[in-house]
Amino acid sequence: MRAETERLILRPWEDRDLDPFAALNSDPEVMRFFPAMRTREETAALMDYTRAMLSESGMSFLAVEEKASGDLVGMVGLAPVKPPMPCAPTVEIGWRLAKHHWGKGYASEAAKAWLAYGFGTMALPEIVAFTYVGNEPSRCVMQRLGMTRDTVDDFEHPNIVEGHTLRPHVLYRIKAAAFAR
Ligand SMILES: CC(C)(COP(=O)(O)OP(=O)(O)OC[C@H]1O[C@@H](n2cnc3c(N)ncnc32)[C@H](O)[C@@H]1OP(=O)(O)O)[C@@H](O)C(=O)NCCC(=O)NCCS
Repeated sequence: MRAETERLILRPWEDRDLDPFAALNSDPEVMRFFPAMRTREETAALMDYTRAMLSESGMSFLAVEEKASGDLVGMVGLAPVKPPMPCAPTVEIGWRLAKHHWGKGYASEAAKAWLAYGFGTMALPEIVAFTYVGNEPSRCVMQRLGMTRDTVDDFEHPNIVEGHTLRPHVLYRIKAAAFAR
C-alpha cells in the first residue's frame, strides 16, 4: 500500500527508516504508554514483522514520511486483532510519531487515509483503536477521527502483566457508515 495525503506519504518501510525509527522507539517520552522501549534490533524485527503482516493480510503498520522534508514522521496503519484480545477478531488502527512531529495534525491526517483504505479498498465493516486509559493524546486522535467509546468495551490488556499501571485500556470504534457520512 502506498498513498499520499496533503502533507504525507504512507508507504512500506525502507532500510533508511531504521535509524530514525529506532530513535523514536527508544525515546522514553514517545514510549511512555508502552510497557517497554525497543532496541535497534527490536525495531528492525518490528519492521520485518510489519512487512510480513502486509503480505499476509494486505494491511499493516507502515511508515509515514513528511513530503516537504523526506523525514520519517513515524508509523501509522491498520492491523488484524486476534485473540486473546477481547474485541477480536477485528481490525485496529494505530499510530506512533516522533516527538518533533506531534501537534501538526499528522497522526490524524495519516489515520484518515488509512480509514478510507480500510473502509474502501478492504470493505471492512468496522475499525477499532485501543490504548491505555491515561493516553490522552491518542484518545484525542480517536475522537478527532469520529471514533466513539462505550465503557462496556473497556478491558485489561491480556498481554500486559496483572497489576501493571498500563494494563487498563479503552476501546474506540468506528463503523464504515459513520466514516462515510
Ligand atoms: C498519539 C500521537 C500520535 C498524537 O499525535 P498528535 O500530533 O497530538 O495528533 P494529531 O496528528 O491528531 O495532531 C493534533 C494536534 O495538532 C494540532 N495541529 C496543528 N496543525 C494542524 C493541522 N494543520 N491540522 C490538524 N491539526 C493540527 C492540533 O491543534 C492538535 O493539537 P492539540 O493536541 O494541542 O490540540 C502522539 O502523541 C504519539 O505519537 N504518542 C506516542 C505514541 C503513542 O502513545 N501512540 C498511541 C498508542 S495507542
